[in-house]
Amino acid sequence: MADWITVASVGEITPGAPKIVDIDGTLIAIFHLDGDYYAIEDVCTHDGGLLTGGKIECGEIICPRHGARFCIKTGTALTPPAYEATTIFPVRVQGNEIQVQDNRWD
Ligand code: FES
Repeated sequence: MADWITVASVGEITPGAPKIVDIDGTLIAIFHLDGDYYAIEDVCTHDGGLLTGGKIECGEIICPRHGARFCIKTGTALTPPAYEATTIFPVRVQGNEIQVQDNRWD
């Protein structure tokens, strides 16, 4: 089972301003949303653009390139031109640390 990796401190990530971390060459965006934290791969499944930098609305991030919407909590692609979900990662809070588990290879 993959290790948990500390990516931020509690209070460091504000709603609307995700933190981007590089875990083994994969960019992962950590969001603070509705009092919880969520981690999704920072890649749009339409054409590989970065999702961060896109507008955040109602729990969704809008790809800044062609406007596909993704659910931040589930990674689901909600509107064309993206049809496949982006990868999500487990997140936990341990004390003052926000941790992500890169479980893609488990
Ligand atoms: S790269 Fe995101 S909608 Fe095209």
